[in-house]
Amino acid sequence: MALDDKVAALLNEQINKELFSAYLYLTFADYYDERGLKGFANWYTIQVEEELAHAKGLRRYLLDNDVHPVMEAIARPDMSFDDDMGPLKAALEHEQFITKSIYECYLAAQKVNDLRTMKLLDWYIAEQGEEETNSKDMITNMELFGSDPKGLYDLDREYLSRTFNPPTIAM
Ligand code: FEO
Repeated sequence: MALDDKVAALLNEQINKELFSAYLYLTFADYYDERGLKGFANWYTIQVEEELAHAKGLRRYLLDNDVHPVMEAIARPDMSFDDDMGPLKAALEHEQFITKSIYECYLAAQKVNDLRTMKLLDWYIAEQGEEETNSKDMITNMELFGSDPKGLYDLDREYLSRTFNPPTIAM
């Protein structure tokens, strides 16, 4: 069964949003790198990989459904931060925006009884839940420990250990 045009268009837009997310998180990694917080920089560099995987998963899905993916221009992330909490709060806000966007894709698929796309998006919905939780945890950790140099050092060390495990969705 061919993909509905509206659903295909929304999924294509979602590719762009995921690629923009990767761009955004690169700027966050740069902020922390320049501050000397290599662990936070690592966390967001890994997040870039996650976002690319999300984009690739949608691209794969369009290709598998005979829809040509269109790579639109990616906007320039225009953010500057006054303190180490700034990117963490911006990340949560951004992930909440992405969750809403995935829900819109899901509802469009549901409207045309596109069970296959809904099943794909189940994975993205669960992933968004994890990403929002991670973002909230990072804010909480910064609130609890960020004002203490030793606490910040320990947090930074913890985030340095994050590694990338490619999800099967992006194959
Ligand atoms: Fe791809 Fe961070 O959502």
